[in-house]
Amino acid sequence: MIRKIEEVAKQAGEVIREGYRKDFGIEYKTNKSDLVTEIDKRSEKLIMDFIKKEFPGHGILSEESGSFDKNAEYIWVIDPLDGTTNFAHGLPIFSVSIGVQRKGETIAGVVYDVMRDVVYSAEKGSGAFENGKRIFVSKNADLEQSLLVTGFPYNIKSNPHHVIERFNAFLFEARAVRRLGSAAIDFCYVASGIFDGFWEVILNPWDIAAGKLIVEEAGGRVTDFKGNEISIFSKQILATNGIVHEKMERILQRFQD
Ligand code: IPD
Ligand code: CA
Ligand code: CA
Repeated sequence: MIRKIEEVAKQAGEVIREGYRKDFGIEYKTNKSDLVTEIDKRSEKLIMDFIKKEFPGHGILSEESGSFDKNAEYIWVIDPLDGTTNFAHGLPIFSVSIGVQRKGETIAGVVYDVMRDVVYSAEKGSGAFENGKRIFVSKNADLEQSLLVTGFPYNIKSNPHHVIERFNAFLFEARAVRRLGSAAIDFCYVASGIFDGFWEVILNPWDIAAGKLIVEEAGGRVTDFKGNEISIFSKQILATNGIVHEKMERILQRFQD
């Protein structure tokens, strides 16, 4: 199955690459910072058509179209274009993220880093891979030597969730903090040892499904800000190399929400 997921993620990535910096329709979702482009929808259609043809009977939970056959044994959890704001402005950091769950457990995940043409993949219990080569989280134990990443939610103007306070706190504790704009890529860069930690206050199942498995299979840890186990339906996520995890938890917990 993993080869099939990789195949469709790359096909969707090709559609996205073809649309990059071209004219495409843009609509607003909840507000003027929350966009969906024609290319998000095209990518999603390609993936959904593929599943219907290759895996009839499998369910789907996809960002732009919602949920189908939610009681099916297998559910594909899809972000057809993660990093839409980057894509819409021509910043070349965006991805396709596909996780497959069986009876509620993620068994496979693929993130396609479109402009770098890199496939991150993992199957439960079999390790994580970058273009077929095994990857591992960093071994860094020191926050002062850590490169961290975060993201900001679209409802930040109505509910800021202490994102700036947390960002500020980590600026003083870590070597540096980044904000790339694609949560699925943030997870994969933790998995491959580029980032030592990634936190975000509000994510959705399609942002989490593939990336969480890829980090765990690379030897990392993914929890909420208090260190509790999470499902793909949790909102807060902290994904790290495991070693800086508790240090990051303590800083995140300085702020309540
Ligand atoms: C967004 C990106 C971003 C994160 C947001 C997500 P989208 O996904 O992953 O990095 O900060 O929380 O919603 O809307 O581009 O698919
Ligand atoms: Ca997303
Ligand atoms: Ca998306």
